[in-house]
Amino acid sequence: MDVTLIYFSQTGNTRRIAETMAEVFRETGHATQLISLKKATPQDAVTGDLLGVGTPCFSSQAPTPIKAFLQSLPSLDKKRAFVFATSGAAPGRVLHDLTRLLQDKGVDVVGGFLTRGELHHPAPCLHGRMPDRPNAADFARARRFATAIIEHVCAGRPGSVAESHPSALKPGKGFYDLVAAISTDSFLRLMLPAPKPDPARCNQCEWCVYECPTHNITLQPYPTLGDKCIRCYRCLTGCPQQAFDANWSFGNLAAWAFYNTTFERWFGDLSPGERIY
Ligand SMILES: Cc1cc2nc3c(=O)[nH]c(=O)nc-3n(C[C@H](O)[C@H](O)[C@H](O)COP(=O)(O)O)c2cc1C
Repeated sequence: MDVTLIYFSQTGNTRRIAETMAEVFRETGHATQLISLKKATPQDAVTGDLLGVGTPCFSSQAPTPIKAFLQSLPSLDKKRAFVFATSGAAPGRVLHDLTRLLQDKGVDVVGGFLTRGELHHPAPCLHGRMPDRPNAADFARARRFATAIIEHVCAGRPGSVAESHPSALKPGKGFYDLVAAISTDSFLRLMLPAPKPDPARCNQCEWCVYECPTHNITLQPYPTLGDKCIRCYRCLTGCPQQAFDANWSFGNLAAWAFYNTTFERWFGDLSPGERIY
């Protein structure tokens, strides 16, 4: 069987889960292509017998770049696929966003996998969350899930795999699904501060131009943001010269209002005894 895995990943958590799954598929004799969203074309999703699509969770949903990619696909009638995501403790509808958009293209989604990923976000209230995740146990779960998926699809079994995360196949109606619904890109631009480039530190290396997932940064001659910022802060957290900053006073309060330990325990998937930090 030919497997194609397309993943969006900014800090490497989702990429490492994708690599782990690809390893399983290859070990069991299935030719597997692993493609970053940066390089993926709609044709990549068309070829192959099984498609896997992965993403980090942003604002309790799938981020705009991966959603836009899935929306751009042609009809993939009856193709079988699975979805996967990494998140903190408030994943909301991230898996179901991927499932829904694939189903809109006629895809038969057979399951979804979700695991934790260390959060690199500049809002002070979010610093240091889920350290060292995904860990060995998370990778082992990813391997078991990939094994279950490939066996299921090779055997031509109908329906979904038992190992699937429930939120992949059924839309949720919880607090974080509501947060996801209101957290449109324009709402986020209103609530959270814009990354501010500092020309004094910038050496015009173009790292941010290449890394910005919405192609929203141009050098004129220093980084300038357009109006498509999704507040992922990739430019700010990853710039090799640390040439971006943001004013977090109100934005930190806004982030804390929705993403605090109490809410994530009550309404997210933080289990009893598990800690965010
Ligand atoms: C801008 C941003 C927003 C995020 N929002 C959420 C969220 O709403 N809920 C959640 O559980 N995790 C959230 N996270 C955590 C990421 O989903 C998690 O760290 C993920 O593993 C990152 O994946 P990557 O390393 O593949 O980019 C957010 C991270 C970032 C950077």
